[in-house]
Order: sequence, then structure tokens, then C-alpha cells
Amino acid sequence: MAKTGQKLYAQARQRIPGGTQLFSKRPELLLPEQWPSYYSRAKGVEVWDLDDNKYIDMSYMGIGACVLGYADPDVDSAVRTAIDSGTMCTLNCPEEVELADLLCELHPWADMVRYSRTGGEAMAIAIRIARARTKKDKVIFCGYHGWYDWYLAANLGDEDALDGHLLPGLEPAGVPRCLRNTAVAFRYNEIDELKAAVTQHRGEIATIVIEPIRNYEPNPGFLEEVRGIATSIKAVLIFDEVSSGWRLTTGGAHLLYRVTPDIAVFAKAMSNGYPMAAVIGISDVMQAAQDSFISSTYWTERIGPTAALATIRKHHLCNASEHLIAAGKRVQSGWKLAADRHGLKISVSGIPPLGHFSFTYENSQAIRTLFTQEMLQKGFLAVDAFYASYAHQDHHIEGYLKALDDTFAFLARAIERGEVERLLKGPVAHSGFQRLT
Ligand SMILES: Cc1ncc(COP(=O)(O)O)c(C=O)c1O
Repeated sequence: MAKTGQKLYAQARQRIPGGTQLFSKRPELLLPEQWPSYYSRAKGVEVWDLDDNKYIDMSYMGIGACVLGYADPDVDSAVRTAIDSGTMCTLNCPEEVELADLLCELHPWADMVRYSRTGGEAMAIAIRIARARTKKDKVIFCGYHGWYDWYLAANLGDEDALDGHLLPGLEPAGVPRCLRNTAVAFRYNEIDELKAAVTQHRGEIATIVIEPIRNYEPNPGFLEEVRGIATSIKAVLIFDEVSSGWRLTTGGAHLLYRVTPDIAVFAKAMSNGYPMAAVIGISDVMQAAQDSFISSTYWTERIGPTAALATIRKHHLCNASEHLIAAGKRVQSGWKLAADRHGLKISVSGIPPLGHFSFTYENSQAIRTLFTQEMLQKGFLAVDAFYASYAHQDHHIEGYLKALDDTFAFLARAIERGEVERLLKGPVAHSGFQRLT
């Protein structure tokens, strides 16, 4: 049992509002009162908790950041060299120019690059640039894009606007009410919803923002139509590749669909666990960054670009995306086969490197919690998602699928006997935003 982590989390709740800095890392969402919560070491796909219990991470791999695996030796070695050379200085680090060249080489439609250190921050920069370029305010978007006001404004007045965009039930407390009606949601692949929003807000739209792909393949022609609409209303088209980037190819997923945005935004996997984010775009739009004030001290430090250069080069050299797709497909088909074998009802979604499944029962949250509880006992960090990394080897996947098969058999029996809730050693995991306060 991960007792020390439990105790520390109870302490954290007293000192840190919400307990963690990232919503998705809250133990209440995964396995309340049992989740290890803290790590002492992580290497490859292995994680040790504060009691030195070892787990194989078959869940979020640093919430999608560690695409090459934890503590990758090549990235870490480049970072150590940067540390020895001084990571901060009055002068700029040359790595940021080298990285800009590399990003534009990988995305030949892009001419210019700005940086920050987190995904939400980089998205806020992209929105600012789009508004500065068009001198308009409104944002039409689908998908999740971080914690900033421009995005949460969608929930002002229309309380369920962000349902279906990864933040159901979110109250935008602290977001100025005057931002009401500045961000308008539509659903992925629902081109008519986009058209309706564009008609309603014609003449006021600065940008259309989408993740080029996430849970579903784009319908034939969807991305092309979005591109066409953005061009026709002179709005900046932003592709948020914070999660989708560096999974299906070395670069943005949009490269595979041959539809180019005006701006693309990267973070997370581009630097394998070191803070780094990039906004890349065509010069006509990116030059507008000069008309606004977009500036921060630590956007100039050296570790982020160094880690990104090492990550991207290794990613390319090892053809990491091929590995991620193969590993993800194997796990997704393993979920389906095991569910069929034991008569469990699940539905599977997500691109293979970012796969999800859900139990389709009335008490699905309790079943999901029991799944995580049983898999933890077998030595796996396992939830209803699998984010593949280059460090996931065949034997990890085989061990996981064997444990999954046993666990699905156990769950099927528990469901049949109506014993799911009784078998839980702690509370049912929370879902959504509303139950965490
Ligand atoms: C598509 C997308 N955009 C933006 C973000 C926000 O990134 P960050 O958590 O680094 O601020 C995320 C994070 O999950 C994301 O998936």
C-alpha cells in the first residue's frame, strides 16, 4: 500500500488548494485514498512511489509529456550539458534559433516561431496574436485548450458550453463576465455548427481554433472545410497540437492531413518532460506579435529549447511515432478482445497513441475505480486511457494485457453479482469538475 503518498496528499490538501497543480493529477479522479499520488523516481515506464513500490505506467505517461519515456538518457544528457553551460543569462541562448529552424523545417508552411513553457500559455499567445492580426475579438473553437480566460469565457452565461470539450460542469469563477460571448464552442466534425457560429458572429471573428485530431478521425473534407471557412472570413486558423503533436508523426498531426493552419501550437511531448512550448505560424500572422506585448523572463531560459531539440531529433531518428501507433493499436485491440472474452461492455476511442476506453454501465465510475484498484495491486498505473511512449516495450504491453484480462474477468463477475461497490477499498473516483470542491 502506498501509505506515505496518501499521508502527503492529505497534507497537500491543507497547503495547496485542490491538492495538485494539474486537475488530471488529482488522486480523487483516479483512485481516491489509494492512488500512490507521489513518485520518488521514474525511469523508462517504471515509477517508484514514496514507499518504494514499483509500478509500470500504462496510464498517462506524465499526462502526455513523456513521449520517449521518463528520464530519457539522450534528452537528459543534453540538458545536463546545458546546465553546465549556464541555463540563464543576460544574453539569449542560441538554441532558440536552432529550434525555430528545426520547427519550420518540419512544418514547411510555417515561417516564424515564438516560445513559452506550457500549453495553455502558448495557446493564450496564439489567441493574442490572432486578435492583434485581425483586430477582432471572437474565438470560435472546439476541443480543450487550457485554463486561460479566453477559453473559460465560453462557460460564462452558457453553462454547458464546455461539456464535450473535456471540462464538463466547469464554473468559470474569476473569469471577467465582460468576456461573455467572446468564445463560442462547436463540436468536432460538426461543420454545420461551425457554419452557424460563423454566421451568427460574422464580422467579429478573430480566429477558429481546433485540435486537428483527438478522439476521432476527421470526417472526409472536415479539415479542408474548416480551412476554407477561416480563409473566407479572414480569420486566423489555429491548430492546437499540444496533445496531438509528436504522436502520429515527428511534428504536428496536421502534416498527415495536408491541411495547413496559419498557426500551430506545441507543448507537452515536444520536450519530453521539460517545460517548453512553441507557437509557429506564417509570417503575415506571426508579425502581429510585434504589435502586442508578449514577453516573459523564463521564456528565454536554455533547458526548454535544449530538451526540445534533443527530443525532436531522437523522435525522428528512432521513428518514434511508428512505435507509438503500434503500441497504441495493440493496447486498444487488447481492451476490445478482453472485453469481448469476458462479456464486458466498453467503448474505445482516441488515436492509437492516445487511446481511451469507457465502461458503458450505469455505475461505470465505480467499475472504472475498481479496475484501477485491481490493476494497481498487480503493479500497474492503469486508468481508462493509455498514452503510448517509446519506452513501452512488448513485454510491458504483454504483462499489462495479461493483468487486464484477469481484471476484466474479475470485473465481469463483480458486475454480474452486483458486488462492484462492495469490493472497493475506498470511495468511487470523481468525474468532471463539480465534485472536487
Ligand atoms: C489540446 C490541449 N491544449 C492545451 C492544453 C493545455 O496545456 P498545459 O496543460 O500544458 O497548459 C492541453 C493539455 O492537456 C491540451 O490537451
